[in-house]
Amino acid sequence: MKDLSSLAGIPVKLDPGSLHIAFGPEVRDPLYGTRSADQMRRVLLDPECELPEIIYWMMRDLGLKSLPDLKQTAHLRYDISVFRGCNFGREFMKTSGHYHPYKPHSGVSWPEVYEVLEGTALYLLQRVNDINLGPDEVEVEDAIIVEGNPGDKVIMPPNYGHVTINTRPGALVMDNWVSSDFSSVYGKVEEARGFAYYLLHGDGQPRWVRNPMYRKPLPPLRKAVVREVPELGLTRDVPVFISGARDPGKLQWLNYPEVFGELIWQGLEIVGEVPVEEL
Ligand SMILES: [Fe+2]
Repeated sequence: MKDLSSLAGIPVKLDPGSLHIAFGPEVRDPLYGTRSADQMRRVLLDPECELPEIIYWMMRDLGLKSLPDLKQTAHLRYDISVFRGCNFGREFMKTSGHYHPYKPHSGVSWPEVYEVLEGTALYLLQRVNDINLGPDEVEVEDAIIVEGNPGDKVIMPPNYGHVTINTRPGALVMDNWVSSDFSSVYGKVEEARGFAYYLLHGDGQPRWVRNPMYRKPLPPLRKAVVREVPELGLTRDVPVFISGARDPGKLQWLNYPEVFGELIWQGLEIVGEVPVEEL
């Protein structure tokens, strides 16, 4: 078992072979969820490809028995997710991709912060003019990729849907804090067979291609790198669980994104664009 406790800030171990996760006795029982192969096929470039029955595991609403439940006291939820390292046909392993709804009366949707505990995550973020428009009509206004490695805290900014891609053969483990006041929404992602870009493994020569289902012109694919934002409780050396447990107030940007817009964007520094090809 690989001990991820010091990175996570709660006692947790991973069996890299079976991808089984074991928590210490002081951890509250989480709510378990899985993503099945059949659910995934609708967002893949190669829907008929060979897939394992379970694609990834989600453990939601985690915490320590000795601490207050921040869902009750601060409207914050802490989760851990485990992803396989395998290809999906021509694509790398990825999540189905989702959006967060708009916070009422705010004009922005709820953000999120991911922390990588094991492996490397590549996040594809996209902002569209209306998540309820299908691929013939929707306009993708911006698209960003950002890589996360162990210890990185990666902000999913308001109004950007996100897909997580595992570009490595091994397991990917991440945790996150998010407002407990909403549920994710999928918009028309399935109708569009995924987000606007696919990352193909290319048998060792990865390349981004446009998803041809999207009919309107697509924006350049911008590349960002992760930056620490101490004001938001995000520094490399402190696990996000600890930041939230020590001072839940530091994470209230997750509940009030409308007043933290500038600081939230300090977590992502745009460094250029990546080449995108036609399929
Ligand atoms: Fe999310």
